[in-house]
Amino acid sequence: MSPTVVLVGPPGSGKSTIAAVLSARLGAKHRDTDADIEATAGKPISDIFVDEGEPHFRALERAAITAALQADGEVLSLGGGAILNAETRADLAGQHVVFLDVSLGEAVKRVGLGVARPLLLGNVRTQLRTLMEARRPLYDEVARQTVSTDGKTPEQIAGEILEKL
Ligand code: S3P
Repeated sequence: MSPTVVLVGPPGSGKSTIAAVLSARLGAKHRDTDADIEATAGKPISDIFVDEGEPHFRALERAAITAALQADGEVLSLGGGAILNAETRADLAGQHVVFLDVSLGEAVKRVGLGVARPLLLGNVRTQLRTLMEARRPLYDEVARQTVSTDGKTPEQIAGEILEKL
């Protein structure tokens, strides 16, 4: 058993938006591990970072991903840092993992509009650049498909993914 498709990429790459469009087109459930973690913890991720710290969040994230990978036929979106965990990267082998590749400029614009992200306090552009550069090899490692998202609508991106399933 495994999800139909797993979306990875940095904050602001559009994982949740694309997952919602994809799941509607497939008639499949959309599961988002950040949402699962918040439901289990009973508080927002930003509060988990403040109250318990990032290592605790990463442990919750690892557990949420292990559980989510048991589900069959779902569209799964992961938090941007999920691929930092080597066990998670190993678990993703064999899955249809899609790396949503976004430019720094576009990601900054999208994150600016979104919910508070604990790792992106201060200068969002600088933080995001550092994080994207450090993680790119890890996204490349797990990806079966890479889709550039700049200048495309969510429907176009979902269409490119559906063609490869
Ligand atoms: C994180 C990204 C967030 C969330 C947490 C940590 C990261 O998800 O999991 O704040 O390390 O990049 P998004 O990628 O949906 O912002």
